[in-house]
Amino acid sequence: MDHRENILKEEFAQGGSKMHNFILNGENIEFNRERNLLDYLRDEKKLTSVKNGCSEGACGACMVLIDGKAVRACLYTLSKVEGKSLLTLEGLSEFEKKVYSYAFSMVGAVQCGFCIPGMIISAKALIDVNKTPKEQDIRKAIKGNICRCTGYVKIIEGIKLSAQIISCGILPKAKVYHGNVGERLPRIEAEEKILGRAEYTDDMYIEGMLYGSALRTKYPRAKVISIDISKALKHSEAVAILTAEDIPGNRYIGHLVKDWPALIAVGEETRYIGDSVVLVAAKSKTALKEIFELIDVVYEELKPLTSPEQALRTEAPKIHSNGNILKNERVKRGDVDKAIKGSKYVVHNHFSTPFTEHAFLEPECAIALPEGDGITLYTGAQGVYDEQREISELLGLPKEKVRSISKYVGGGFGGKEDMSVQHHAALLAWYTQKPVKVTLSRKESIMIHPKRHAMEIDVTTACDEKGRLTAFRAMIIADTGAYASLGGPVLQRACTHAAGPYRCPNVDIEGIAVYTNNPPGGAFRGFGVTQSVFASECNLNLLAQKLGISPWEIRYINAVEPGQELPNGQIADEGTAIKETLLAVKEEYENSKYAGIGCTMKNSGLGVGVPDVGRCKLVVIDERVHIRTSAACIGQGLGTIIAQLVCQTTGLVPSQVLVDFPDTQLTPDSGTTTASRQTVFTGEAARVASEKLKNELMHKALIELEGQEFYGEYQGITDPIGSDKKNPVSHVAYGYATQVVVIDENGKLVKVIAAHDVGRAVNPINVEGQIEGGVVMGLGYALTEDYPLTNSIPTGKFGTLGLFRATEVPEIKPIIIEKNISELACGAKGIGEITAIPTAPAVQGAYYSLDGKFRTKLPLSDTFYNKSTLSK
Ligand code: FES
Ligand code: FES
Repeated sequence: MDHRENILKEEFAQGGSKMHNFILNGENIEFNRERNLLDYLRDEKKLTSVKNGCSEGACGACMVLIDGKAVRACLYTLSKVEGKSLLTLEGLSEFEKKVYSYAFSMVGAVQCGFCIPGMIISAKALIDVNKTPKEQDIRKAIKGNICRCTGYVKIIEGIKLSAQIISCGILPKAKVYHGNVGERLPRIEAEEKILGRAEYTDDMYIEGMLYGSALRTKYPRAKVISIDISKALKHSEAVAILTAEDIPGNRYIGHLVKDWPALIAVGEETRYIGDSVVLVAAKSKTALKEIFELIDVVYEELKPLTSPEQALRTEAPKIHSNGNILKNERVKRGDVDKAIKGSKYVVHNHFSTPFTEHAFLEPECAIALPEGDGITLYTGAQGVYDEQREISELLGLPKEKVRSISKYVGGGFGGKEDMSVQHHAALLAWYTQKPVKVTLSRKESIMIHPKRHAMEIDVTTACDEKGRLTAFRAMIIADTGAYASLGGPVLQRACTHAAGPYRCPNVDIEGIAVYTNNPPGGAFRGFGVTQSVFASECNLNLLAQKLGISPWEIRYINAVEPGQELPNGQIADEGTAIKETLLAVKEEYENSKYAGIGCTMKNSGLGVGVPDVGRCKLVVIDERVHIRTSAACIGQGLGTIIAQLVCQTTGLVPSQVLVDFPDTQLTPDSGTTTASRQTVFTGEAARVASEKLKNELMHKALIELEGQEFYGEYQGITDPIGSDKKNPVSHVAYGYATQVVVIDENGKLVKVIAAHDVGRAVNPINVEGQIEGGVVMGLGYALTEDYPLTNSIPTGKFGTLGLFRATEVPEIKPIIIEKNISELACGAKGIGEITAIPTAPAVQGAYYSLDGKFRTKLPLSDTFYNKSTLSK
């Protein structure tokens, strides 16, 4: 039991059955039970603008005003608010709601939206006492609010604008938008999110709903000897207690490889600390813990394999029946040995990168309910069709008997691609024939969902006397943890992109993904490239040093141009603009005393011959066009992008289109939100559908098309790895980027200049937001974020992950390069992942320019930023 639990326990004991009186949003309240304030507001009063991001006082999503002061509701009990006046976002005046709504949407402050209500509460606390806050005041005021999406830049702008409007008392006139490509159209869902009305899964309440949870293993690696649920079954609130044998279909599920048991069976070994052993459905949340305490599981504890190095030993026990290697990968062109021998300069280094926690603000939640002879699921994940497929396999049901509907998603970044709660909620609902909600606590979330892979990387880079790259060799060992998840494709992308956006005729990149008893490695913004590019970009700087040229110059000399071959042999298309991104940062890089630079490319779409299809349907209902696609908006703003592509093509305006939520019954399968693919794939599908609608609109009014549907599809055709074509097409599009990080003489971040070739910015404000958010994530990766493990058990909490706060973020200057003339999705390329990739090597380079220490491990050591200066 931690310190906070002790305090709360004491207060509960004292506040027991006493009557509590306070004012809530202007209403006198009397309540006769002690409760945690956050639970009370959400569960009793259904004030769901107050979000639960961590329950441990670390995220700020639960911010409320108590007597005008912004405080975290999760740290309060009702006895603590006795006689006080409470205000939640719902209680703001209509004028204030309009102001925040206007200001935050105009500046693009909203992405996934989960942190926003808490931010506004902190903003109000500030503006109520300071009508003209300076930027530093704002940063300080939201220091207790974590935003994982925006990098805080536009939130700060939104608060500044809100203060200006509030102090002058007049709301600016609403702007008129056409919805064209290139327009700074505010997010279509912005107001809902800003005012806390957007419903995330955990905000849903269904009458008669049960609460579900999984009892996790006690040890990362242990044999389950026996499970006794007999005592637990007698608990008055226990409705169902399920073990492995209760699973009607395939117990093993998995996004690509079916190696992940939904529940560990007696006689089986656990593989990591997040493994589930027993599932419980209870009448109340509080009963779950009591029921768990009545379950007896006997384990035979075994020594975990805590690293790939241990797991690769010949005597190592097998984590899976087919051994401890998930995947080997090889990307080879030319003759590296020969090229290295003939090269003027050669640099070799070893680099280490850690696991990283996604830290999306909304912990995983799913609600399943029986419907007819099937199951309906409400979730906030990255692909409703993935859920449908995996759950139908688990339940042994035909796919069409499982309907998955997405609610708003409070951030994902790759961490919501795998099943975490969805399958458990479905299984419990199937058994109980009642609605069941399963929500992970922050502690569980940190422990359970797959992380960014830790990698060990050996890199050799060689060049000739003019600085032209001659050879690149790498060996990448990825710790893929207990289960495959997306470990195979992540490793592949780490390998295919390691050599960077450069002309390099000889490459030999090997990768190996190794099972261990650590939490699984999976998809995370950057998808393996974040790791391998850190290594290769840092190495390049040493080569430049040997040559006596600048890091900028060696990149410019080698940067690929249209018509030239990328390291994988693909011909760079006409829209390739890596050189333009380099030129855009040149002056600031060269004029800064201590600066580092990083370049990268990142694919849009799955590529490498994997079937990849975007689908979209436009349906005319009540004179409006409903855009229907399963493509998930996980905060990146996909709905707005698709709406703009539809408006651009058809000539309709934003008020005439509506984006429906992903729903396997209504929206066509447009694949997972992954690989920066949705803008291109679903965007192109929407454009194709829009062309059809446009043709009809040429001779008919919208009202005459009532009920008609227009379907669009786009299939990306690519060549597999190892294709014998001279110039295989690995991906349909690549984005390119150069980032520069400037620090001062103390090593403090001063500025990040981020130039991104996005093809065509469908919505520039959205692109800027992606860049700013990605850069801050990259800064955290470089300097502060870690996911420490002791004997394969994660030891971090939300407050100790090292996430950047508003006070630590430097100036960020996004530069958008638009050169693409391709018709595909009006020329847009993916921007989601690439933004977080070049930042870490640029930070490393900046420190190298400051103190000459060549750091090879993330997070970087011996910098201005270490844990002791953060998260205080
Ligand atoms: S939920 Fe209260 S601070 Fe995170
Ligand atoms: S918008 Fe702030 S956490 Fe997503």
